[in-house]
Amino acid sequence: MPRAKISIIGAGNVGATCAHWAAAKELGDIVLVDIPDKVGVAQGKALDLSCSAPIERFDSEIIGTADYKDTEGSDVVIVTAGIPRKPGMSRDDLIATNVKIVKSVSEQIATHAPDSIVIVVANPLDAMVYTAWKTTGFPTNRIVGQAGCLDVARFRHFIADAIGVSIEDVQALLLGGHGDDMVPLPRYTSVHGIPVHQLLDDKTINACVDRAKAGGGEIVKLMGSSAYYAPASGSVQMAEAIIKDKKRILPCAAYCDAEYGVGGYFVGVPCILGANGVEQIIQIDLDTDEQALMDESVSHVKDLVGVVQETFPELV
Ligand code: APR
Repeated sequence: MPRAKISIIGAGNVGATCAHWAAAKELGDIVLVDIPDKVGVAQGKALDLSCSAPIERFDSEIIGTADYKDTEGSDVVIVTAGIPRKPGMSRDDLIATNVKIVKSVSEQIATHAPDSIVIVVANPLDAMVYTAWKTTGFPTNRIVGQAGCLDVARFRHFIADAIGVSIEDVQALLLGGHGDDMVPLPRYTSVHGIPVHQLLDDKTINACVDRAKAGGGEIVKLMGSSAYYAPASGSVQMAEAIIKDKKRILPCAAYCDAEYGVGGYFVGVPCILGANGVEQIIQIDLDTDEQALMDESVSHVKDLVGVVQETFPELV
């Protein structure tokens, strides 16, 4: 079987770390793409990572480039190109700059990797997924955003930490937009099948929810730039599910119409991810409070998309 091919657009912190995780999992050949001014950075990181192959034992060809022709034949394209947050900035502050970047990147993807499945990571995520969808014209199953895998990983980490158990035993689910907009679902959170409410009191669970929501901001404040290990890890988890056709249920920003009453936007929902990208959206029962939080989250996504449409009428 030929190796899978993964192109990663943006060879900065998130992009290079995606390459790192993907190589460590031997998911396939990797193309790291950046702008011409930074092609040396992409090539240098690709070479550096390649030199770790004999030690880490992966057979993957890794190249750095500024030429989108090198992405031809990609199975998966991960879009990390864009400016990251600095202290004091919200994800929404990035919108104008990152729409321009994601739009130009998406045009290249549509031309050079027209059969790929695109995982968008750039922020503000829900608006960037929309931009990639409108620009590529790809069917909705082949455009998906990474936010939920990261948010749920953060939540699982804090829950495991609070109880003092392995993260392997903590299962959780959440919906909605990224970060502040996420809709936590403690009702669907369990520890080796035990509902989390039997192991932690509400106050502690809520503290874990709040920390997961603000986890990105906490890291920006600490190190002066945005997170990349876990965001990259979440992105590669999705790429792996697609490349290996694993049919994993993962929380992803996927196109929802009737589902959850969203009405035609990309929002975080549990999806089955496999070789065809988003193969199914799973609808779970929400109680009144959960549905209200979901509606609020969706309304913020709509506002963000509204800003994109106002500023870039060609994306309507
Ligand atoms: N094509 C390719 N690469 C580009 C383009 C473009 N048109 N425009 C910018 N880039 C590259 C930059 O040159 C840079 O190397 O994207 C890279 C971004 O890397 P960082 O500045 O290190 O940012 P990073 O922390 O990786 O975050 C990227 O992911 O999680 C999100 O919020 C985050 O939107 C941000 C994105």
